[in-house]
Amino acid sequence: MMPRNHRTLGLCPPGRCRLLFAVLLAGGSLGGGAAGAAAPPAAFMPGQVWLDTEGNPIDAHGGGVLQHRGVYYWYGEARGQLSRGAVACYSSTNLLDWKREGAVLPPSSLPRVNDRRTFVERPKVIFNPSTKKFVMWMHLEQGGYRFSRAGIALSDTPVGTFTFLEALRPIANTNDFASLASDPARQKEFGATFRDMNLFVDEDGRAYVFYSAEDNWTMYVVRLNAAFTGPELPAVENKTWAKILVRRMREGVAPFKHRGNYFLVTSACTGWTPNQADCAVADNILGPYRSLGNPCRGPDSDRTFGAQSTFVLPAPGSPGCFIFMADRWVSFNLSDSRYVWLPLEFDAEGTPIVPWREHWSLPLTGKSDPGK
Ligand code: DGJ
Repeated sequence: MMPRNHRTLGLCPPGRCRLLFAVLLAGGSLGGGAAGAAAPPAAFMPGQVWLDTEGNPIDAHGGGVLQHRGVYYWYGEARGQLSRGAVACYSSTNLLDWKREGAVLPPSSLPRVNDRRTFVERPKVIFNPSTKKFVMWMHLEQGGYRFSRAGIALSDTPVGTFTFLEALRPIANTNDFASLASDPARQKEFGATFRDMNLFVDEDGRAYVFYSAEDNWTMYVVRLNAAFTGPELPAVENKTWAKILVRRMREGVAPFKHRGNYFLVTSACTGWTPNQADCAVADNILGPYRSLGNPCRGPDSDRTFGAQSTFVLPAPGSPGCFIFMADRWVSFNLSDSRYVWLPLEFDAEGTPIVPWREHWSLPLTGKSDPGK
């Protein structure tokens, strides 16, 4: 897809581009500065305030993007005043200008469990062509991070409103999980935990959920049923689901596929504090996955540029290139957490790299200077 308008730096004549770069660098963010009009940016500006088409900061954290019939839908955690606690949705045709579609899963539709409220982290949405439903999966949680279940919600349209279906643990009571709990029953319970998650639809139309399980010690990948509303049953280890990145304590999983290989960008588990990313690869979606090391290149690359992986999206009009999406969390004011979207390309050895850019535009050429 070509960028829509002249504001995209990729279409500027060089002289005008230099001028615009200077404006961008001086202002930090087009539309975010006091003198500027409140407008979406002219280029991807990792870490800067990103305004929607109404001039409000985009509020969709830990999110993911669905492309459906030529439109991109960005779903994420609403942390700001407009719809705090909801799953927010924005739509765009160029990935830069995002229109707020509102709270597509309001907090009032989440279940109360044992008389305590639940909340959503890391919502993702996929479309099921058979049922024609938009299927949302999320990490459904309660204070203390012990509830740790998958939440599933459905809608007939990408912009909702989604109806909450159920909360579940896709793989129950893993038997051999040893946690810090001394009670064996509690050990089993923690073994089934479901926290940071992502969805992936393979080329054959089958969908998978990746998630941090076993109290975050090990990641699971589980094939979904035909409606995408739960695990494929009966669940058979290494056939319909698998333990991957075993005992490696990874989260923030962001899967993508390139030339028949499955890649997973993940973070370490350090709460809201940034840490070093890893990229793992396998030729089978159920693994085994082999670590390729840190894909990030440039300043602060050992802390994922101060951010944490959330999604990887094929870059439109840029064959073989992807967009790495991450959150620069602000733990004391989560609504001010910024988005770090960067090119994800492949080096000469075919290893994914994410080079730092102050600003960048589509399309990508796949010839980034790795900035090693
Ligand atoms: C890291 C996770 O990736 C986030 O989604 C969130 O759960 C924080 N931990 C909470 O500390």
